Amino acid sequence: MDISDFQKNIVQNLRGFYLTQIISYLGKSNYIDSIINKKKIDINKDKSVFSKKVLKIIFDYFCNVGFSIKKNNNYILTELGKDVLKRYSSYFVPHSYKNYFYNLGNLLKNDKSKAIVDREENILGSGKTHLRYFIQAISFIKTKTKATSLIDIGIGNADFAINLNRQYKLQKIFGVDYSKISVLRSIKSLNKYNINNRVVQCDGANVKYWSKKAKKFLKNENIVISLWFLIHEISNNSESKIIKFLNEIKKQFPGATIIICELVNIPYEILSYNKESTFIPEYLLFHQLSSQGVLSIEKLNLIIKKSNYKVIQKINFDELKKNNVQKKYPSCVLLFLK
Ligand SMILES: C[S@@+](CC[C@H](N)C(=O)[O-])C[C@H]1O[C@@H](n2cnc3c(N)ncnc32)[C@H](O)[C@@H]1O
Repeated sequence: MDISDFQKNIVQNLRGFYLTQIISYLGKSNYIDSIINKKKIDINKDKSVFSKKVLKIIFDYFCNVGFSIKKNNNYILTELGKDVLKRYSSYFVPHSYKNYFYNLGNLLKNDKSKAIVDREENILGSGKTHLRYFIQAISFIKTKTKATSLIDIGIGNADFAINLNRQYKLQKIFGVDYSKISVLRSIKSLNKYNINNRVVQCDGANVKYWSKKAKKFLKNENIVISLWFLIHEISNNSESKIIKFLNEIKKQFPGATIIICELVNIPYEILSYNKESTFIPEYLLFHQLSSQGVLSIEKLNLIIKKSNYKVIQKINFDELKKNNVQKKYPSCVLLFLK
């Protein structure tokens, strides 16, 4: 049977809708971890709290889409199934914006009341998917700074601080987050690892407010400051707002190195050309629907140039290009500023 591109496209779209829900829920509940290495899965002997009937329906579906096979009433995950299910945490951040889509009818009428991000799922996914960026930042801190303490603006669940502290002992961590859930979660995690911490709930853009508290707590520490995907949260697409924000940080902490990691807005011609291998279109969609101003690389570079900081190192991730275009566009950029 000859299958046209549009038929394949429709199948993929519909499958994505169902699989994203299933994989996110089974991943968050640790169910995937409990089955991923099993040679065979016997649902009748399943010890989870889940309904065996529903699990069987899901595994029958997995068989139909090539994630598993069925042998003597047991399910066996295929290589494809294992490869996809293992990466369940990649589904968390996009899925955390589910309420925007379940309530799209309201959103289209400008009613934003039900369009709320699932912050628990969002910070859980952020910490896990950002790991490969964290590794580069940790290596930089270890080799290029004499930092003794960290300020993380938009600390989430403190995954960066905890990962850093594992390889490079810090004296103190100061965190800022406007979400109460993030503040509670990060304090709990930092305490669990006996890391001396102070986390305040406030808008990270209000540097004057949190810097007073940070200075009081950190005293004479050598500070490194991290901003993981925070610029687009506070940018409002305003160049001058971000320059002012960065310059205020420089004024309050003149000697500190700043680490900025940001998603990049890429021209649609490049994205549509690479549409089968990137989920940046989906990332841009939910960021834009939730009023977060993801900047282009040109705008981001210009902002830094106009600020009182200099770039000391830059790492591009997941570069995309069109075959007839020389220029490469990073999907994400990690900047070290001083
Ligand atoms: C993408 S998450 C990053 C979390 C964590 N640092 C990481 O990399 O895994 C962004 C965090 O910034 C917080 N945030 C968003 N806007 C903020 C603002 N204006 N002020 C303070 N925190 C903010 C969110 O609540 C969330 O925890």
